[in-house]
Amino acid sequence: MQPSLESKGYGVVVVILLTLAVAVGSVLVTPEPTITEDTTSTPVPTRHVISRATPIPAMVRPQAGRWLGRGFTSELAAYPPLQLFFDVAVDGTLKGVLSLYPTNPEIPPNAVDLIAKNGCNIEFEGFGGPINGSFISFTQAVVEVEAVTCEVKFYGNVTLIEPVRGVFAAEYSESATLTLAQGAVLTPLERGKGVFYNYCSACHGSYAEGAPGIPSLDTDQVRAKTDEELLTIINNGVLNTVMPAWGNVLTDEEKQGVLLLIRDLNVLKNRA
Ligand code: HEC
Repeated sequence: MQPSLESKGYGVVVVILLTLAVAVGSVLVTPEPTITEDTTSTPVPTRHVISRATPIPAMVRPQAGRWLGRGFTSELAAYPPLQLFFDVAVDGTLKGVLSLYPTNPEIPPNAVDLIAKNGCNIEFEGFGGPINGSFISFTQAVVEVEAVTCEVKFYGNVTLIEPVRGVFAAEYSESATLTLAQGAVLTPLERGKGVFYNYCSACHGSYAEGAPGIPSLDTDQVRAKTDEELLTIINNGVLNTVMPAWGNVLTDEEKQGVLLLIRDLNVLKNRA
């Protein structure tokens, strides 16, 4: 039997449609690409994807001056606040103090008072022992701390219940260095301004305006306090808050300077 012309026509259409469907299908269901070796193309150069960490220089000569510890990371929440600073001499030797303010119950009460005033201190000359570190650039260092005892002024050694252990990022501070160097020629108020920028503004704000959880110093509450009361707060900090004790960090001149500044906060608004 001869197929009619009509049905022949349908057959052609069906074949075309089927061909299309297969073609579309093969586009939609993209099959796994078959990798054919193309021996004619130039070989792609091997890319070095191994990212090499910047090598830590074996011997970096650090910037002479005052360095401040920043951003202590510790396994323990028991020891904030901590303060670390060290001075690097021109010949590269260094001397510094790490002050901590532990309040754990096994520390005798009279020592706790002194700790609140002066900190429990680990003095160090050079890196090694409980304060170890290395300079990673001219102005940056990593300082590791692992200490079980610290020394309280007028009291002696205190053994910590748990060792304080952690890492500081430390940085050369130009302003702290200048403040130290110019200490003699600065007016008390200028000195206070330097102290404020180095030690207080990180929390209290550049204009002493405060921050969430940190009070402004431009308040009637502060103005109502006597110099004595303010100095007590500055020396001792405020226990169980993040307000550190500065008794052992600042010199008497610096404390007087920052006190003058608190009385004359407009000075901060005319920041040069
Ligand atoms: C780590 C953050 C931090 C730093 C740094 C800091 N403070 Fe404070 N300060 C606080 C906090 C928090 C309080 C509030 C404590 C409280 O709750 O009583 C406070 C309170 C005070 C008060 C009392 C304010 C009031 O209303 O009674 C004074 C004065 C003060 N700080 C001065 C200073 C000075 C001066 C410096 C720098 C030498 C400084 N602070 C550095 C966090 C800080």
